[in-house]
Amino acid sequence: MLYKNRLMTPGPTEVPPTVLAEAAKPVIHHRTPQFRKILTELLAQLKEIFLTSNDILVFPAAGTGGMESAVSNLCSPGDHILVASCGNFGNRWTDIAKAFGVTSEHYEVEWGQAVDPQEVAKRLAANPKIKAVYTTLSETSTGIETDIQAIGEIVAKTPAVLVVDAISGLGAIPMKSDAWHADVVVAGAQKGFMIPPGLALIAISDKAWDAAKQSTLPKFYFSWEKARKSLKAEALADTPYTPSVSLILQLAESVRLIRQEGLEAIWQRHARLARATRVAMEALGLKLFAAAQPSNAVTSIWVPEGVDGGKLVKTIRDVYGITLAGGQGKIKGKIFRIGHLGYADDWDVIATVAAVERVLAEQNYSVHLGDGTAAAEKILFQS
Ligand SMILES: Cc1ncc(COP(=O)(O)O)c(C=O)c1O
Repeated sequence: MLYKNRLMTPGPTEVPPTVLAEAAKPVIHHRTPQFRKILTELLAQLKEIFLTSNDILVFPAAGTGGMESAVSNLCSPGDHILVASCGNFGNRWTDIAKAFGVTSEHYEVEWGQAVDPQEVAKRLAANPKIKAVYTTLSETSTGIETDIQAIGEIVAKTPAVLVVDAISGLGAIPMKSDAWHADVVVAGAQKGFMIPPGLALIAISDKAWDAAKQSTLPKFYFSWEKARKSLKAEALADTPYTPSVSLILQLAESVRLIRQEGLEAIWQRHARLARATRVAMEALGLKLFAAAQPSNAVTSIWVPEGVDGGKLVKTIRDVYGITLAGGQGKIKGKIFRIGHLGYADDWDVIATVAAVERVLAEQNYSVHLGDGTAAAEKILFQS
């Protein structure tokens, strides 16, 4: 049987056809007015999506490269930072800090729960040495959304800078960088931006640039200062090293699509798809893992008793063509995750719900085929 491949993971996501087509264009040289004009316009338009007036730097890297740069450019050896984590990606901040000899006060909530902004306030008040607070907008490993607005209001009243990993959230769920006082916002390519993996995008506030001036940690390729110099030296933007020319062209096309649909409309689409997914899973008798503050980018679901979580994800992918994600770290095998992020529509959700129903039934889980899809359709087609 032929099944189309559908990428319903929380990154990489599917790529729209016109974005794919950009990669097939001949490579142009990056030190030309032609490329630099595209880059200059793109960087200006990205500000509308980050909702910031700050400059945005682009590095050819996975999102983690952008995260690493937010430690190496802001901190010095022995500095204290606070990491507010609710999962695997939040914990990555502490791992990076450790690698650079930075002391991380690690505040981690039980996975499936959300970070408490008041706890961030308490810890900041108790430790005035904290130079920066690092957290995650959409914690992909658990499906939780963090209240960045509340944390931003708290951190803004202190000398510390707020650094947000918005890699899997930006462009899908609200992230109001300036209004929420997020000083450093790191985004990735392969999520809300709907392009293949390989770009890290970083918005940096004046407060963060001031902090960066004090930083003595080693940096070269990921030096923000070098990147900013190239950006600003002339009227047209430039990069210190060879940029990912084709990915930049793809990003320019995806940004065109994002502006065409509109940011608010995109947030609403993600909210609808997420709600339909959640309601469908509950209609099948499944329990949501991130019940409290679920992210509209990804839905995480407990694997029910008697079902093999690994086999569930593998069968849906290998037999029915739909790639979901399993659990990570300590919840591996215990949950599965459905990404409804980026280039995803109603039919993707319905197909995914139908596949989950079918494979649950194949694993002898008591399910009535059609209950999940009916519940999803009710949300999708009556609103
Ligand atoms: C919230 C979050 N942070 C960081 C990352 C890491 O991004 P990358 O794999 O591009 O380094 C991911 C990727 O899944 C993510 O979802």
